Amino acid sequence: MQYKVKDGDILGKKLGAIVVGLFEDDKKPEGLVKEIDKKLDGYLVELVAEKQLSASFKKVNKIHTLGKLEAKAIYFVGLGKKAELTFDKVREAFAVVAKVLAKEEQEEVAFALDTFLTGENAGELFAKALAEAIGLTSYRTETYKQKKESTSAIEKVVVYTELNQDMVEEALTVGYTYSAGTNLARALVNAPGNYMTPTDLAAKAKEIADRYGMDYSVLEREEMKKLGMGALLAVAEGSDQPPKMIVLKYRGKEKWENVLSFVGKGLTFDAGGISIKPALNMHEMKMDMGGAATVLGAMEVIGALKPDVNVMAVIPSTENLINGSALKPGDVITSLSGRTIEVRNTDAEGRLILADAVTYAKQLGADYLVDVATLTGAVIVALAGVSTGAVTNDEELMEDVLLAAGEAGEYLWRLPNFEPYKEMLRSSDVADLNNSPGREGGSITAGLFIGEFAEDTPWVHLDIAGTAWSRSDSVFGPKGGTGAMVRTLATLARNF
Ligand code: BES
Ligand code: MN
Ligand code: ZN
Repeated sequence: MQYKVKDGDILGKKLGAIVVGLFEDDKKPEGLVKEIDKKLDGYLVELVAEKQLSASFKKVNKIHTLGKLEAKAIYFVGLGKKAELTFDKVREAFAVVAKVLAKEEQEEVAFALDTFLTGENAGELFAKALAEAIGLTSYRTETYKQKKESTSAIEKVVVYTELNQDMVEEALTVGYTYSAGTNLARALVNAPGNYMTPTDLAAKAKEIADRYGMDYSVLEREEMKKLGMGALLAVAEGSDQPPKMIVLKYRGKEKWENVLSFVGKGLTFDAGGISIKPALNMHEMKMDMGGAATVLGAMEVIGALKPDVNVMAVIPSTENLINGSALKPGDVITSLSGRTIEVRNTDAEGRLILADAVTYAKQLGADYLVDVATLTGAVIVALAGVSTGAVTNDEELMEDVLLAAGEAGEYLWRLPNFEPYKEMLRSSDVADLNNSPGREGGSITAGLFIGEFAEDTPWVHLDIAGTAWSRSDSVFGPKGGTGAMVRTLATLARNF
């Protein structure tokens, strides 16, 4: 997609479609809307009075100009009340109109940005919202049908504004880049398990590294054995696909210090292992590499925007399947950290591979850890598909992540980390830890299990089991992978 910023008269140009914001508060037309009304001989005001044209939030009304204006069509976007229009809400409104524009095959559109602004300071934020919304709604799920459906998309966007052109252009770039990172994560999640094995995931990570000059390395099974990554290897036993421990390093500072590390669960298919899942909806478990996808999406954004912070991605990847040598309930395994784990349930595999990944990240110099994982069904019971759940051992880092989520417009809610929850993990008679202490408080204990391996390194855990995947379309795109937390992680890194 192409972006251009222009100042000057949007009404003086021969354009296919222009997009104009309408506020409910503006009882009398002002500025551009007033000019349009004049050119339409007062007809616009009449339409509004007769409620044929509405300024209520997210209402889109198209009018054909029939030669009265240079532009062939104007799309009015209802924005509701000025005082209530936030970044999140204006992004939603932009998404709604972007969808209509794409559907009506308007490939080249001009936005009158200033008509959307609630005040002088809104420019940067709302320009970002605009590009993010258009980018997010442009995503199309890849299919493998013999006959591809053709879908139209907005190809060229011109933003008219009286604000500083460089500032607006920069904001558009940030918004667009955020959408690109999110869409990358969506595509990874949506890929079928046979197209997205641990080997494929590693290749995708390498593409990002090559694109932005990041360090790329991967551990193969033999090296994992030498290092003693008993937890990741144990899960991988049940699969014929070779496991991978994928590492990307983005060096935003001269020295490799103050390293912010993102650890993403890369389970490319989770059948549950011997503690096998029910068949119903098992196909959706191709999304169990959602954490890895989020981390890679964030690395894409970081590579493109180049903040001056060191960021390391660590992605443990394997399948969780069944064969004659698969991990069994009751098995005791030894993790990279030396801690032993009794595997009560082979379907609680995410925390096992993340345990080794967190220890490995620390060995590679991680100073701050954020792990992202489609970890528990329990988080969906607690928070539905609405909010990501967080667990932490560090108030300050938690605060930073919550602020980043707020800024990025993503829902995130913290779960408790009280001592008795940690005690529940020590309920094995034979090993240091029990990987499945029971249904109650399931997303808390799962998170805290990973926290055992973070030890005293500041750590935040994000459970995206409910948010990484949607069973219905949203204003921002089709059902399936959502790219949840990509923008939060990118924002966290840029603010760090
Ligand atoms: N990948 C699943 C969690 C999951 C559930 C992700 C639903 C997305 C949607 C995870 O590996 C798992 O199976 N967790 C178990 C843990 C239990 C056995 C302690 C669960 O949540 O049932
Ligand atoms: Mn599982
Ligand atoms: Zn899983």
